[in-house]
Amino acid sequence: MKLWITGGRGLVGAALCEIAPKPFVISGHEIDIADLDACRAFAKENGPITHIVNCAAFSQVDPAETQRKEAFRANAIGPEVLGFLAREIDAHFLHISTDYVFPGTGHVPLKESDAVAPCNYYGLTKLEGEKAVQSVNPKACILRTSAVFGKGGKNFIAKLFDLLQTKETLRFSNDQMTRFTYAPDLAQVILSLLNQSGLYQFANAGPATKYEFACAFRQEMERQGFPVRCKHLEPAPSSEFPAAAKRPMYTVFDTSKLEQRLHIHPRPWQTCLKEYIHAHTH
Ligand SMILES: NC(=O)c1ccc[n+]([C@@H]2O[C@H](COP(=O)([O-])OP(=O)(O)OC[C@H]3O[C@@H](n4cnc5c(N)ncnc54)[C@H](OP(=O)(O)O)[C@@H]3O)[C@@H](O)[C@H]2O)c1
Repeated sequence: MKLWITGGRGLVGAALCEIAPKPFVISGHEIDIADLDACRAFAKENGPITHIVNCAAFSQVDPAETQRKEAFRANAIGPEVLGFLAREIDAHFLHISTDYVFPGTGHVPLKESDAVAPCNYYGLTKLEGEKAVQSVNPKACILRTSAVFGKGGKNFIAKLFDLLQTKETLRFSNDQMTRFTYAPDLAQVILSLLNQSGLYQFANAGPATKYEFACAFRQEMERQGFPVRCKHLEPAPSSEFPAAAKRPMYTVFDTSKLEQRLHIHPRPWQTCLKEYIHAHTH
């Protein structure tokens, strides 16, 4: 068994590298996943590859609105190329997708089979990626996840520690509901799905808004003895934070398909948060 992890230096890819069975190889931007010749050469040089896990993506939601060509290339063409190549070299293919394929207009946890209709360009490119993978490699496994946090991320969670230590007042949206996902838990699930086919969803247990997440974060920082400057943590409507890309309001996954398949129960996000804050500082 030999794994090739694309996007191996990204948030999810790096968490996977921490627990992936050796030997494995990683690639970043230097091997453009949308370039079949480059990918083929990499696979040959590092082969025999038995599993490809695609953690590479154009993951920035707002820049995707303007950098459309690059976003489509990484999120739609890249997965198609890797899915095709995996078939060619007889390797299993696992591709990571997102809750942003959903429109986010409902109020009931979303199953894999629920209707998709992205509300921004990032989501649209990721949906195109899912469709392309299903078409070129019907044996592939696609794993959707949502609001990932872990070592080295670029999202709001990565900045929370510093923000709570430096700002007196902070406001976070309290009307967008999702399920947060701890990258190490996601990495475990990826490994468990390596030989599976089909579409699955994973996130840690319990829905939350950014505001709720930030409140738990502050409480946990205080519990672990860190100085916290922020005295006023306030809920706000998302309309207060205009952004280039529209955000789905409700993307809470129903993860029962994955739970039944792997016989697991996702840990509550609050438990993971304790670990994250501890690991962040030790
Ligand atoms: N983070 C979240 O909250 C979240 C939520 C839902 C789903 N996801 C999905 O999870 C997966 C991993 O996301 P992430 O958060 O780990 O993203 P990330 O930290 O931005 O990492 C993505 C990696 O992809 C690489 N990359 C980008 N374009 C590439 C290309 N054309 N060819 C080769 N490599 C390329 C980048 O490599 P370089 O470092 O070399 O530039 C980067 O390290 C993605 O499929 C994303 O859609 C993430």
